[in-house]
Amino acid sequence: APQATVPAPREAEALPQEEPQTGAADQAPAPRSTGPAAPGYDDAEREAVLRVMRERRDIRNGFRDDPIPHEVLLRVLEAAHTAPSVGHSQPWDFVVIRSAETRRTMHELAVRQREAYAKSLPKGRAKQFKELKIEAILDTPVNIVVTADPTRGGRHTLGRYTQPQMAPYSAALAVENLWLAARAEGLGVGWVSFFDEREMVRALGLPEHLEVIAYLCVGYVDEFPDEPELMQAGWSKRRPLSWVVHEETYGRRALPGEEPHDLLAETVAQIRPLDAKALGEAWERQKRMTKPAGALGMLEIISAQLSGLSRQCPPPIPEPAAVAVFAGDHGVHAQGVTPWPQEVTGQMVANFLGGGAVCNAFAAQVGAEVCVVDVGVAADLPATPGLLPRKIRGGTSDMTTGPAMTREEAKAAIEVGIETARDLVAAGNKGLLTGEMGIANTTASAALISVFTGADPAEVTGRGTGINDETLVRKTEVVRRALELHQPDPADPIGVLAAVGGFEHAAMVGLLLGGASLRTPVILDGVSAGAAALVARAIAPEVLAACIAGHRSAEPGHVAALNKLGLRPLVDLDLRLGEGTGALLALPLVQSAARAMHEVATFDSAGVTEK
Ligand SMILES: Cc1cc2nc3c(=O)[nH]c(=O)nc-3n(C[C@H](O)[C@H](O)[C@H](O)COP(=O)(O)O)c2cc1C
Repeated sequence: APQATVPAPREAEALPQEEPQTGAADQAPAPRSTGPAAPGYDDAEREAVLRVMRERRDIRNGFRDDPIPHEVLLRVLEAAHTAPSVGHSQPWDFVVIRSAETRRTMHELAVRQREAYAKSLPKGRAKQFKELKIEAILDTPVNIVVTADPTRGGRHTLGRYTQPQMAPYSAALAVENLWLAARAEGLGVGWVSFFDEREMVRALGLPEHLEVIAYLCVGYVDEFPDEPELMQAGWSKRRPLSWVVHEETYGRRALPGEEPHDLLAETVAQIRPLDAKALGEAWERQKRMTKPAGALGMLEIISAQLSGLSRQCPPPIPEPAAVAVFAGDHGVHAQGVTPWPQEVTGQMVANFLGGGAVCNAFAAQVGAEVCVVDVGVAADLPATPGLLPRKIRGGTSDMTTGPAMTREEAKAAIEVGIETARDLVAAGNKGLLTGEMGIANTTASAALISVFTGADPAEVTGRGTGINDETLVRKTEVVRRALELHQPDPADPIGVLAAVGGFEHAAMVGLLLGGASLRTPVILDGVSAGAAALVARAIAPEVLAACIAGHRSAEPGHVAALNKLGLRPLVDLDLRLGEGTGALLALPLVQSAARAMHEVATFDSAGVTEK
């Protein structure tokens, strides 16, 4: 008989006190039972339930022709039909398709959508996608269309009144039930969403008022892979549970029974120095590669760094890669440090999203994804695909009259950067690049660099977008005044950031720390990234294990920052644009360094005589 697996509370005192009810005066609170709680399943049964959830897979490969017996399919459909539904409306229908002709029609529709999607991908991703199978419509004996009827249950369906989307949600739960029951029967299921929904309704001759929730390919399979096929293909990574469980309020991440952990502290704790063993293997391998020792110069240092960072030799090639362009505005703009109006920040964000900026052209050329993050733009930006709305505040305060940000704001912006790194890496990116946009942000960069290098503001303040002599003098004085006002202490990096930094600098600090904690290389762009790297290094010195200087910008502060960081830039072309452009140009160099470690033969394997 099933046993209780939860210890039943016996004492009435152990129960939480019932809150007095408001607004439901006619319902007297039910007396709380002091008897044993309803039993759960015994250990073996519970393990079977959890096992089917763990081992359910989306299957596209290895289907067999074996027919599905009616009684098996019936059990699977019955499981689907017992799903929970809003107001018990049971809005689903299941159309079971076996006809080869219908499946061919659906296959053709899916192929067209696949091509459209492939065209939308950055080159680095498209290469990977080409190898992926995304449907098994023709390989499976049975296809099942799951629909939702948004009108079922009548006008007064309980719970759908405020949230009409509850009908499709309910049908999706039926899909999950079907999927789990199928797994228990040894049936593979592959969900295909490469369809235009209305086109599908017409092609299948469905009543127009129905919504298609899922198109499922079902059949017996050779095997169920241990991990999602997309993970095995390197397309995505599993996000840890600890990233997504919050205690009481969003952001207080804690697993049950744990104390909430601080995202920044947790990230810093995971940053490690380069792995000595992998580093040694990389140096050894480079000596044996069919080229004179050291002939790849700086690229040998980069590939060894990538090995030490990933703890693998040869190291993963940083492809696909994504540039995170953090955008923010600056209160110090009011001091006349640039001739550009502040609105340009928001306008350029729109340009990035429309694909018209230099960073888009360079990203397209090198096959990288552009991810735009509003971390503090003054303008309200409309929701647009590709934009992450993470605004802390609509611009910093003027650093010459008070701190640019509060400590809490600076920390929140760092956390935006950490979460951006997590999201991009979990989405399968193997390299990250910093980018930024913020009118007046080179003023903040100069102030940060002056604090961490000890250089005089006159040495590290530059012409940014190309200001004249008079404005340069004013800008330098603005930096000097801000530093005199705040007297920032480099031993308190978050304090420095809050006093004279920008939201995008703080977010870049987070991206660097996040990338390092995930052992993913981060290619730095120009002066603002250099400033952020100085802050990040002051927080966690080992962050440099993940940092690669993409280029040297024309800004004097950048040279000072790189010297202090001990980083040698890969590209030196007098760029002074930002947006991640210099980092993007460096990406193929870093990828080439890693690829050489994989593909270049060794003297012994190629039979080449050493000197
Ligand atoms: C709503 C939804 C739509 C999906 N659409 C597709 C699809 O069109 N093509 C595909 O190959 N997989 C599709 N999948 C499967 C996912 O890629 C798969 O669930 C995910 O990679 C995790 O793998 P797993 O299901 O094996 O755990 C879909 C899954 C869901 C939940």
